[in-house]
Amino acid sequence: MKTAIYPGTFDPITNGHLCILQKGTKVFDKVVLAVAEFTGKDSVLSTEERYNLCVEATKDLPGVEVQRFDGLVVNFARKVKANAMIRGLRALSDFEYELSQALMNKKLYDEIDTVFFLPESKYLYLSSTMVRQVMQLGGDVHDLIPNCVEEVLRRKFEQA
Ligand code: COA
Repeated sequence: MKTAIYPGTFDPITNGHLCILQKGTKVFDKVVLAVAEFTGKDSVLSTEERYNLCVEATKDLPGVEVQRFDGLVVNFARKVKANAMIRGLRALSDFEYELSQALMNKKLYDEIDTVFFLPESKYLYLSSTMVRQVMQLGGDVHDLIPNCVEEVLRRKFEQA
């Protein structure tokens, strides 16, 4: 059984993430979408909200399981017996950061290798920050995010 993890903040999960995830499920028997509790970023959504939206957005994708993790990502990979980590590479600018992360993760846990997938070109310049910003300012990004994400973010920004 080939298991991979796909870690991230997912604040919120976008169609770009789902695109990467779908590609991962074609290569691995199981992909654990790993929602980081500690992100080092100012998250708009709580861990609970980020996790719930990931569960909802992936409920029809076979071979996907959503879990939360805290601490080092390699320890989580070891716990779920994954020997691959999926990451998306959008533009060249992602490369250097991803390379350093992949090398550090490999140093920390030699059993893990990072596998990169390219998203469809329409998601190449998408980021969670951009989605949050556009929605906060009333813009329309419904074709870039799952419906459940749009509903939760809309409610959150209306309340604020
Ligand atoms: N579609 C849309 N957006 C995408 C994307 C895609 N295919 N691929 C990446 N992104 C976005 C992310 O949403 C994120 O956007 P944001 O900054 O606006 O939220 C951005 O690209 C890059 O994210 P990144 O900084 O790589 O973080 P991440 O949110 O993807 O997750 C962790 C990083 C959680 C995997 C990493 O910090 C980690 O492993 N933490 C645990 C602690 C640890 O082990 N540290 C040592 C690692 S060497």
